[in-house]
Amino acid sequence: MNIKIAPSILAGDFGQLGQEAKRAETGGADWLHIDVMDGHFVPNITIGPDVVKALRKSTKLPLDAHLMIDHPDKYAPEFVKAGADRVSVHVEAPHPLEATLKSIKDLGAKCGIVFNPNTPFTISKEVGQLVDYILIMSVYPGFGGQKFITEVLDNVKAAREFANQSGKEIDIEIDGGITPETTPQAAAAGANVFVAGSAIYGKPDISQAILDIRSAAEKAVS
Ligand code: DX5
Ligand code: ZN
Repeated sequence: MNIKIAPSILAGDFGQLGQEAKRAETGGADWLHIDVMDGHFVPNITIGPDVVKALRKSTKLPLDAHLMIDHPDKYAPEFVKAGADRVSVHVEAPHPLEATLKSIKDLGAKCGIVFNPNTPFTISKEVGQLVDYILIMSVYPGFGGQKFITEVLDNVKAAREFANQSGKEIDIEIDGGITPETTPQAAAAGANVFVAGSAIYGKPDISQAILDIRSAAEKAVS
């Protein structure tokens, strides 16, 4: 399995986001995860397209934008134009899912769908043909530093089963409460992309923190 580590800049210092992005890059990250919140879909407000545009100049890492917003169909293209390489949208948000995914792909980015912990994994044939990756939330979105919800492992397994049968390479990403301790269960269930905020930016040595999560995932699937 192609294991990737995606530090979530939400846990970084917002006073120096450019440097925080660089720290992830030199620390060995594969992607930079960017949590976009609108104060409607989730009770918090974070980052908009202009900040993504600025981050684009600070790092060569693929930018993985996770849109926790209502009406992502209106804004997803803005994030691609700002420099996001991957954009994921929640299946629970009000929007025409297929059309939103198409708009992301048409602009040349990878598109993903996200499931909250209480949304059982299901996927239509049409959406299945479009998606490049599936993000399973292991906390309720809105804030970093929450505890991993073990029940979501069923969603990870179902998403991995779908990915294996799809005939294409679909990443299964997991986000929320990821630490070296929770990573093995997620990896064993089929996740291959690990988003971590506090377990990376909250540690004094980012390289070591990334390595610890990577080793935990590799060990669990070897
Ligand atoms: C939660 C965000 C996560 C968050 C993860 O709404 O989607 O990406 O930053 O933070 P930790 O790793 O601290 O749970
Ligand atoms: Zn996220």
